[in-house]
Amino acid sequence: MQETFFDHLPKEPVTLSEGAILLPGMALNLDANIPSLLNLIQAASPFRNMITPGGHTMSVAMTNCGKFGWVTDKTGYRYDPVDPLTNQPWPAMPASFLEIAIGAAVAAGYPEFQPDACLINRYLPGSKLSLHQDRNEADFTHPIVSVSLGLPASFLFGGLKRKDAVKKYTLEHGDVVVWGGPSRLRFHGVNTLKMGEHPVLGEQRINLTFRKVV
Ligand code: SIN
Ligand code: FE2
Repeated sequence: MQETFFDHLPKEPVTLSEGAILLPGMALNLDANIPSLLNLIQAASPFRNMITPGGHTMSVAMTNCGKFGWVTDKTGYRYDPVDPLTNQPWPAMPASFLEIAIGAAVAAGYPEFQPDACLINRYLPGSKLSLHQDRNEADFTHPIVSVSLGLPASFLFGGLKRKDAVKKYTLEHGDVVVWGGPSRLRFHGVNTLKMGEHPVLGEQRINLTFRKVV
């Protein structure tokens, strides 16, 4: 039998819905470099707790790498080529990040994906991310690729309407979720992070979401 990409995953992929797939352990080979890459990024563009247009301070701390960064403040959500904290461009997207994101997109059936933005979320125990859609990108034919690192989290994956039923999936270090096509605008979020200590990243969960903005 011909070998496929999926033969190299430590666990079987899980279809979440049409166009959405969980690829367990697909990003595990980032492991050795991830702390130093994150240190380089946050030295240039530190994690910060952004303010929503409604005036709430988010419990998840964020930074970005790549050509564009997702930001929120009292004026709304947007992608900005400049970090408003430093007035400098965001740090470049590391080649290994890009490789993982494109590899996962290809495996999930999105061979054209060329991300130009990577939002980096840092969850400390107690942080959570409410149900939302990712809809600040220009073209929804491109998927979202999400890489989970550090402490495990309970990921909520819902429907196209906020009130639709939500399923929960545990995302562990190295897991990748890709959602696109008919699932591109599904609501999703993350339950309150539980305490714990991860051998590579300590007391935190890091999530990278790759997007094609323009
Ligand atoms: C996001 O929706 O931007 C992040 C999802 C996650 O942290 O798993
Ligand atoms: Fe999101």
